[in-house]
Amino acid sequence: MSRILLGVTGSIAAYKAADLTHRLTKDGHLVDVVLTKAAAEFITPLTLHTLSSRPVYSHNQFADNYDDVRHIALARDADVAIIAPASANIIGKLASGIADDYLTTVFTALRTQARLIAPAMNTFMYENPIVQENLAKLISYGFELIEPTEALLACGDIGKGALPAVDVLLQRIYARL
Ligand SMILES: Cc1cc2nc3c(=O)[nH]c(=O)nc-3n(C[C@H](O)[C@H](O)[C@H](O)COP(=O)(O)O)c2cc1C
Repeated sequence: MSRILLGVTGSIAAYKAADLTHRLTKDGHLVDVVLTKAAAEFITPLTLHTLSSRPVYSHNQFADNYDDVRHIALARDADVAIIAPASANIIGKLASGIADDYLTTVFTALRTQARLIAPAMNTFMYENPIVQENLAKLISYGFELIEPTEALLACGDIGKGALPAVDVLLQRIYARL
């Protein structure tokens, strides 16, 4: 049994995080899900809690638990950490060392374990040189990129930017366990 830290950000692809959580849990792993404020607009903590049978951590976690240093324990105990889907925003924040909410704080506290990042966004956002530079920086610091696939995106464009299928995400996670 391994511990998987799953960060979820504000993308329409956040619905896939529910299936990912379900499959990892069914395979016997402990899944700690951390949501950004925007992610909670797309998928509820209740859904992820029910699928993982574990607490789910969201953006206002600090306000709810002033005495708790769980963000450090979550980072320390993870065998693999993955952000899926990863927004352009979270990629920029992590690449800049910004830790202004629960997810960015936990991911900034990670040490040497495997860190995977699966961007999902509109093609023009993904191809934006600033986003690409931020991703390159994260990769240079040890993040492993799970490249988005080409698809008909939620915005109606066809192009690169879709979160890969859950089977692909699972394969990449298990390759690092
Ligand atoms: C309907 C909708 C879909 C969105 N999808 C994406 C997306 O796929 N990728 C992305 O980077 N941002 C997307 N955004 C914008 C993010 O939600 C926004 O940048 C947010 O601030 C991200 O916050 P977070 O990184 O803290 O989750 C979307 C916004 C809306 C309203």
